[in-house]
Amino acid sequence: MKTELKKDIYWVGYVDWDVRDFHGYRTERGSSYNAYLVKDEKIAIIDSVKAPFAKHLLGNIAVITPLDKVDYVVCNHAEPDHSGSLPALMAACANAELVCNAKCQKALSMYYDTSQWKFKVIDESGKISLGSRTLTFMDTPMAHWPESMFTYIPEEKLLFSMDAFGQHYARSERFDDEVPLAEVMEEAKTYYANIIMLYGRQVAKVLERAAGLDIAMVAPSHGIIWRKNLAVIIEAYKRWSVCKAEPKVLIFFDSMWHSTEKIAEAIYEGAERKGVSVKKYDLKSTNITRLAAESIDCAVMAVGSPTLNKGIMPKVAEALTYLEGLAPAGKAAAAFGSYGWAPKGGAHAVMEYLKRMNCELISEEPLQCQFKPVPELLAEARELGEKLAAKALEIVEK
Ligand code: FEO
Repeated sequence: MKTELKKDIYWVGYVDWDVRDFHGYRTERGSSYNAYLVKDEKIAIIDSVKAPFAKHLLGNIAVITPLDKVDYVVCNHAEPDHSGSLPALMAACANAELVCNAKCQKALSMYYDTSQWKFKVIDESGKISLGSRTLTFMDTPMAHWPESMFTYIPEEKLLFSMDAFGQHYARSERFDDEVPLAEVMEEAKTYYANIIMLYGRQVAKVLERAAGLDIAMVAPSHGIIWRKNLAVIIEAYKRWSVCKAEPKVLIFFDSMWHSTEKIAEAIYEGAERKGVSVKKYDLKSTNITRLAAESIDCAVMAVGSPTLNKGIMPKVAEALTYLEGLAPAGKAAAAFGSYGWAPKGGAHAVMEYLKRMNCELISEEPLQCQFKPVPELLAEARELGEKLAAKALEIVEK
């Protein structure tokens, strides 16, 4: 299926309804690999799709133009979800030049046999005239990889933004005004948290530079194309790029015999009393993808683990290892848990993670009980909840 974004500019990608695991990211709503075709005196393809779907890409292009009429294939990003079908595409488009920057050429040459490809290596000063339209380029290092770049058509005010502003969100509709805004924003936030959050500083720079462009439409490489709610997604990116905190406490934990769970519930009750938003996740019934999304805008995290084999519960280790990698910035945090005979186990291991994540620790020691929390300990947990909520408000007001 093809969609016309602007006159003679088409979506020619593939909607992947079935993907549920994107290197650990749970893509509950599937995804899409967006490729685009610009038809002018010259014809350009912008990006490609994941390797297994190459035949769909070639078929979508062939509906619009014979493949040997394609002059340029632009590669904005070498990650295989966008470059995987380049070998098939370059073989089929015998007269096309592969347009990319030098870093991208190097990466592509390591992934694929590019010996037969005609490269046109460009930098930011490069411009390619297609006739009535021009392709221009902006390097966007680390949004998402070092070689990532945007392609921009000034005559159409159209930005091909690669992973930035994307969502893992399979839909038959193509545009933001055709789908529920809350749903697409939820997926955009989840995508940002799980794919780009680590590179917030670089994203802020990209936003600053892209502000100089006159943009009416943003076509990312995953999900929905932005044409109505540009200001909404750009403002959200500004907040997310600095992990701007909301008055929100995020509690997550695993439990063996409900003791850590009871402490989590008491912390929840205490925090809730103070009128902030409190999110509580038992890691047995949630996943790290959701947790990452919640972590962007929480002010405070409370993380619980019982002691297991002198250490931390596996699901807590998984969650914290993932979050440590994504590096949500500017959080305050506390650890809690329970133990049988090894008090320096699970909750202390959580503390070590929180320190490495540069969290502001609410207390030097975790709140924990032996075997089962007594009423006094639960009262202490409620007090901790109140303290965490107060801290969340303090962080937001800064
Ligand atoms: Fe969608 Fe960084 O690839």
